[in-house]
Formats: sequence, C-alpha cells, structure tokens
Amino acid sequence: MPFRISVPASSANLGPGFDSMGLALGLYIHLDVECADQNVFFAHGSEESEENHFIWNITTQVAERYGAALPPCKVQETNEIPLARGLGSSASAIVAGIELANQLGNLQLTDEQKLAFGTEIEGHPDNIAPALFGGLTISTMLKNDIPSVRLNDIELDLIAYIPEVELKTEVARDCLPDTYERGYAARASAMSNLAVAALYTKDYALFGKMLENDLFHEPFRKALIPNFDLIREKAKEAGAYGTALSGAGPTMLSFMPKGNGEKVKNEMVKQLNGYQVQLLEIDTKGVSIS
Ligand code: HSE
Repeated sequence: MPFRISVPASSANLGPGFDSMGLALGLYIHLDVECADQNVFFAHGSEESEENHFIWNITTQVAERYGAALPPCKVQETNEIPLARGLGSSASAIVAGIELANQLGNLQLTDEQKLAFGTEIEGHPDNIAPALFGGLTISTMLKNDIPSVRLNDIELDLIAYIPEVELKTEVARDCLPDTYERGYAARASAMSNLAVAALYTKDYALFGKMLENDLFHEPFRKALIPNFDLIREKAKEAGAYGTALSGAGPTMLSFMPKGNGEKVKNEMVKQLNGYQVQLLEIDTKGVSIS
C-alpha cells in the first residue's frame, strides 16, 4: 500500500494566454501515503488537523462527490513549491487532494473528471491542466467540458525570479478590468494566437515577443510587481527571448535558447538582490504515482 503522489508546480498565462495557457515546472508537492489506524496528516514538519488541511479538505470533497469511503491513512506532505508566488501552489495542492481520493477510494477517475473537479475549485484550468498532464497546456472552460491540448517538445530553458514577497491571486485579479473594448480585446487575442502559433512552429524569438506583449493582465498588474521592467530588460540583455509574469506574479519567468539557461542565470544573479534565481526544468509527466 505505501505510495507517493507527486504533483508539479506550474506557471500560468505565459504572457497573453490569460487563464488558458500553463506550463508544468520541476518543483513538486509530494504526498507519502501509508495505511494507519486513523487519519494523520503531517505537513511542514508537524502534525496538522485534517479539518484545517487544504489538501485533505479537497480529498474529502472528492470522496463525498463520488460516495467513496476512504480507508484511514497517514499522509506526509513535502512541498517544494513556494506559496503565493505565482507558481500554482494552490492548483498543485488541489490536484494532490483529488489524486489522494482517487487512489485511496480506488475511484478510477478519468483525466476529464479530474480536470473538471480541479477547475471547479480553482475557477480556471490554466494551472490545473499542466499539474495534471505535464508539459505546456492550453485549455478553456466550455459549458459542459474543458478542452485541453498539450504541446510537447518545448525546446527552451527557463529561469524563475522568485521574490521574498508574496502576492495573493485575489489581489492581483482585483486590479483587472471587468470588460475590454472590442478592438483592444481583438489585439489581446491576436497576441495569444501568435504565441501559440510560435510555440507550435518553434519560432521562439516570436514567442518571446508575444510573451512580452500581453494586453489582458500584465499592463494592470505590473504596478504590483517589484522590478517588473528591470527584470525584463536585464534578462533580454543576458540573452532571454522574453520574460513574463508567472501566473498572477510576483514571480517572473524568462525563456531562453536551450543550453543558455546557466549563463543567463549567472548574469541575472549579479543583477538581482533578494530573489531566488532558479533554473527550472519543464515537467513532462504531470501528477504521478510511485
Ligand atoms: N490565470 C490566473 C491569473 C493564474 O492570472 O489570475 C493565477 O491563478
């Protein structure tokens, strides 16, 4: 019975792909699960009450939805994903909770069911889809389903600049307009279309350009993000194709030619104080059981 659930972090939006595009990253939430006489949840090095634990709460909701009785277990959580930094920590926790219910209750949930449940809780699929499937995903919500496409073979290195400050997604969503004028929305959508086409054709210079021309959210959020313009400018000088907010921020993410990551990272470490400058892998598996 002992098993481990691993769920990757993710970076949503990728510039103009607001609430739709997401990329799975090589930072993980791990849940180590084993049989026990009663439920015990360990996180952050200490026992936590199950009622207060977000992941366990999701697990209980899934079990109730599908009428499953879950056997008691001991769960040890290890979390490598910084919280409230725009790296999809809440979506990864939601996916971890769904998968825990799926495994303990032998629910045999389909990918579509997991995506629908996760999106229902999160409100948008852009972090849930890559956490489930890995790689770069593009998805949206229709009335009765959530179409999702995964793009493989992204031949890019990426670097995250993770500041010490946190930013709650609700705060970063509150500063967005409720409506966009038609011409503006058409241009915003065109940036997103071109970003996807550039990824598909591996025209990464064009992808970088589109990444930096988002109109949906970055113009309204950048005032909340320390060093937004400086990071973009210095990363470009160091050889990045482009830099965008990761999700709602405050982390920013640069993309550069494969093999150049270490060089750009070393340059950016010299430019930035108070940031974790991290060369990250793209996760290609999504949620996994071992
Ligand atoms: N697409 C979301 C946003 C990601 O930018 O608000 C963060 O949850």
